[in-house]
Amino acid sequence: MSILAIKHQAINLGQGFPNFDGPEFIKNAAIEAIKEGKNQYARGYGIPELNVAIASRFFKDTGLTVNPETEVTVTSGCTEAIAASMIGLVNPGDEVILFAPFYDSYLATLSMVDAKVKTVTLQPPDFAVPKEELEKAFSNKTRAIVVNTPHNPTGKVFSRQELEFIASLCKKHNALAFTDEVYHRLTYEAEHISLASLEGMYERTEFTRKNFLSDRVEDWMGNCTTKLNMGITASACISNICNGNPFSIGCCGCFKCT
Ligand SMILES: Cc1ncc(COP(=O)(O)O)c(C=O)c1O
Repeated sequence: MSILAIKHQAINLGQGFPNFDGPEFIKNAAIEAIKEGKNQYARGYGIPELNVAIASRFFKDTGLTVNPETEVTVTSGCTEAIAASMIGLVNPGDEVILFAPFYDSYLATLSMVDAKVKTVTLQPPDFAVPKEELEKAFSNKTRAIVVNTPHNPTGKVFSRQELEFIASLCKKHNALAFTDEVYHRLTYEAEHISLASLEGMYERTEFTRKNFLSDRVEDWMGNCTTKLNMGITASACISNICNGNPFSIGCCGCFKCT
């Protein structure tokens, strides 16, 4: 899609990246790590300092205390974190609900695990969650729902009321939630709320984010925080033994920023 967009000088809705560079202190931390010879395998689920930084950030953003050693997995990007979560936690034949339109990797990964995908479309102008339709999409076979807020490509930010409704359905049907919060800083006037922070939801939510400030150095890492970590670290190990050591060290600084 990017090749076609360049060829036809079209707006590229397939792949976006900042047109300015990342902060010096992040780049320098990675450069120093390379110079100091920290160039071998990092720990598979994240270097200890990074997992601690992610857990502290998670606490700041959600008020929830998580164990950095057992509830945080570092991946090479959010796409990998999402794929690892789906591969680790969805079984063939399970139903998974997606809000359409959606980031394309969800469907590709769900096809790989042979899940049955149900879509609920967010309609303009406000892309509000169609409650009745969503309620009908849930069944006793629903394994999970994917919630991407702020949402790509509409820019919609799910409201507390909408998230509470989704949470109530997840609890009623004993379903999991995969949240993709890669754009959590891009809310403008709206308030970003993590589904995991709602009562009784952390236990059933897999929460995915990028490297925060270093979103300006795209894809240095992704991560997920969840109680359901076991299946995720296991499947992340298959797609990628570890995230690069120097980039992991560089990313630590991002999470410490407010
Ligand atoms: C909604 C959404 N999730 C995840 C990603 C990808 O994240 P990463 O580049 O860290 O794999 C993107 C990138 O465009 C996205 O739009």
